[in-house]
Amino acid sequence: MTEFTLPKWYDLHTHFRQGDVLGSYIKSHLDMGCAGALAMPNTKPPTAVVFESDESGNAWSIERYMRDLQSAGGSAFEQLIVPLYLTKETTPEMIIAGAKSGILKACKYYPPHGTTGAEFGAPLSEYVSSGVLAAMEEVGVVLCVHGEEHNLAGDRYFDLDVNAETIFYSERLPQVVKKFPKLKIVCEHITTKAAVDFVRSNDDYIAATITPQHLLYTIGDLIKGLKYHLFCLPVLKYCKDREALLSAVIDPSNTQFFAGTDSAPHIAANKATECGCAAGCFTGGVAPQLYVQAFEIAGMDMSQSGSQDIFKRFLCSNGADFYGLPVSGESFSLIREDSKVEILKTSDGDVMPLPVGLGCNILPWNIKV
Ligand code: NCD
Ligand code: ZN
Repeated sequence: MTEFTLPKWYDLHTHFRQGDVLGSYIKSHLDMGCAGALAMPNTKPPTAVVFESDESGNAWSIERYMRDLQSAGGSAFEQLIVPLYLTKETTPEMIIAGAKSGILKACKYYPPHGTTGAEFGAPLSEYVSSGVLAAMEEVGVVLCVHGEEHNLAGDRYFDLDVNAETIFYSERLPQVVKKFPKLKIVCEHITTKAAVDFVRSNDDYIAATITPQHLLYTIGDLIKGLKYHLFCLPVLKYCKDREALLSAVIDPSNTQFFAGTDSAPHIAANKATECGCAAGCFTGGVAPQLYVQAFEIAGMDMSQSGSQDIFKRFLCSNGADFYGLPVSGESFSLIREDSKVEILKTSDGDVMPLPVGLGCNILPWNIKV
């Protein structure tokens, strides 16, 4: 039986939400060997100012959200990053003061109304004209992008040769990179071959996170039976896209692609409604097992130390290197044996992790932390 040990890893894109449920979601991350996380700021209200003294009814601060995360169990993490949610109120001064204080490491671009909790985002061009991106480039704050063009009609939003992500990476982001060549950018939860090619075209300042679901599934898995637990944004794409993602992560020279689960819990009662489904897949507790399963499906023999090293780079070190974090000194193990995936019971209700929402509760890998 194959068993191998890895340094604890950082989930460099995840959602922990707020309130009483925080503790359950943080625990599910600690239980899967996470040494740290980049906790997304699409809270309610958004985490859109840095300091508590600047809070208003419309904006939480990074200081406050960090403290809440820490007191709900997050103090067990070695590293915690909360990016600043970019809104039309964001100023270059906020970026400079935040970076100077040490608490501001990254900012998050949400396409307006483009996903769960994205209604406070402004178009990317506004952060060019306001000087926000210039300030970020100057002080080395990372831009995390949800890379989808906003406000598209259905036939451009998702079609065979074009979709919101391909438009964003072919028309929108290249202009920003040209203007701010030293701005560090993480293209988050990429789903297309076009995005993989864009990331590869600039290996000094650009990197990308990839989720387990985009490595394991395609749009066919979602629409076959309309399995809404697989509905997340950006939505799953085609086989050629998934193949490009898989070949990026198993490339022995990969330094740019790393783990960011985009684990996005929604309680079952809210996941599907009469007028649509909440976007977000929950992978708390199971992400390393899903990632290693994807490596195997891509043809890697995980009993070999060479394959384990490539996996380790994707899960544990490429992301740490990009964000300037130390690789964890703690470890956990993955074991090639079946394990059972449980529904997460929270004070708000049940949350279905993948692949339970697809009617399967057995994974071929187990975890020991
Ligand atoms: C995320 C959520 O639920 O907060 N949903 C998702 O589909 N990924 C938001 C996001 O990151 O897009
Ligand atoms: Zn997300």
